[in-house]
Amino acid sequence: MEGSLYAQLADKMTEQIRHGAIAIGERMPSVRHLSRQERVSISTVMAAYSLLEERGWVEARPKSGYYACRQIREALAVPSASVVEPDPVIASTSQLVMDVQRDGFKPHAINFCRATPALDFPISRHLRQTYTRLSRTQQHLGVSCLPEGPYVLRQQIARHAMDAGVAVSPDSIVTTAGSLNAMGLCLQVLTRPGDLVAVESPCYYGILQLIEAYGLKAIEVPTHPETGLSLEALKLAMEQWPLKVILTVPSFSNPLGCSIPDERKKALVRLLEQYQVPLIEDDVYGDLYFGTHRPGAIKAFDKQGLVLLCSSLSKTIDPQLRVGWVLAGRYYEEILHRKFVNMLSTPVLPQLVCAEVLGQGIYERHLRQAREAYRQRYQRLVDLVSETFPAITKISRPQGGIVAWLEMPENFDSTELYHFCRNAGVLIAPGEIFSINKQFKHCFRLNYAPRWTREREAAIRKLGQWISDQIEKP
Ligand SMILES: Cc1ncc(COP(=O)(O)O)c(C=O)c1O
Repeated sequence: MEGSLYAQLADKMTEQIRHGAIAIGERMPSVRHLSRQERVSISTVMAAYSLLEERGWVEARPKSGYYACRQIREALAVPSASVVEPDPVIASTSQLVMDVQRDGFKPHAINFCRATPALDFPISRHLRQTYTRLSRTQQHLGVSCLPEGPYVLRQQIARHAMDAGVAVSPDSIVTTAGSLNAMGLCLQVLTRPGDLVAVESPCYYGILQLIEAYGLKAIEVPTHPETGLSLEALKLAMEQWPLKVILTVPSFSNPLGCSIPDERKKALVRLLEQYQVPLIEDDVYGDLYFGTHRPGAIKAFDKQGLVLLCSSLSKTIDPQLRVGWVLAGRYYEEILHRKFVNMLSTPVLPQLVCAEVLGQGIYERHLRQAREAYRQRYQRLVDLVSETFPAITKISRPQGGIVAWLEMPENFDSTELYHFCRNAGVLIAPGEIFSINKQFKHCFRLNYAPRWTREREAAIRKLGQWISDQIEKP
């Protein structure tokens, strides 16, 4: 639906109303005029106007035409900043995490729960073709790969890191089976059981799982929904506790979608230097910005090798690739050894495929398409939520990435909602799995990456209804 001509025209006019080029109450261009101006058929314009009417952006007045209106509430508030007292807690996440993870694979459910990218971009076809060709022409079975990964891939990663302001040699990169795997290797090198790790709050549940698995204690640091990790709170935690490492997703975090402004990233590096504490930077979403330029990496400001930058192609292309990496700074040799001990090496073929895709400009083209699509898909989510959710709903304002965070009143139970929706075939990620203190029970996360279909839109409307029912329950 999103790609069709009438929907594109409707989106264009929505933008004009949203930005005030067409004022509320103003008469919209006539069907005939628009058809001539846009060089589309009368029926396309009619279909665009009905879609706008359905979405609440225009109203039809008898014998007069269409008028711009704003029936829906645009100004949903932003979620609150977290206010945790930074205190070390033995990480213990629940069975719920595994349920949510498995849910993501239910074939017929309408899935908003996993933070996976859309897989309907042309790059997927290109990937398949490259796989087929390289599996015929490259010797990849029965050959072993260096633990650090193929040079051609590391070369592409180094080249690409420049976009985030990071100048790095291919020889200081270790490839991994994804970013989570990269972070796991870093934690193995930097910590011992019982050590303290500072994380943002709310925090991607995969990171909390890692911390639990390694017997570490997590300190949740308050995080602002727009500017990310609070440096003031982090400094206090560093003064008070013997922190072994800080772990953050500084650009378009999961689940808040917030980003630490570049100036504050610089200040964060000064803190690391002052306290000599290393930081693991998870940059899986950095390429998916909606604005005009890519945010810099924290690593770009790191002169002492204290930052270990982890990333992958899981969010930009496909998580099934399992191709990630770590720019390990001063810990390079230890990380390499850990990778060797854990898995000897990672499979060669996917790495060669990724090296080729990264090297051909196809990736850049894909990123441009994906960014624009995700920006529009987020906007559509906001429209739907504005139309159908209770007015009290708060929604995050990600400037990139693929997930939105929704906040309900304090006494709302998103785990109950999760179970209810799951039985009805709609999957969401409940807030409690994003914290070791289970403090976000009144929040939940939605993935807006997939193309909007009538079924997905209907599911959001139902979700809005179920939420209203739960809130109104005596
Ligand atoms: C912030 C963050 N980091 C890492 C991952 C996992 O990445 P990968 O598939 O590369 O291991 C996810 C997946 O949801 C994520 O949201």
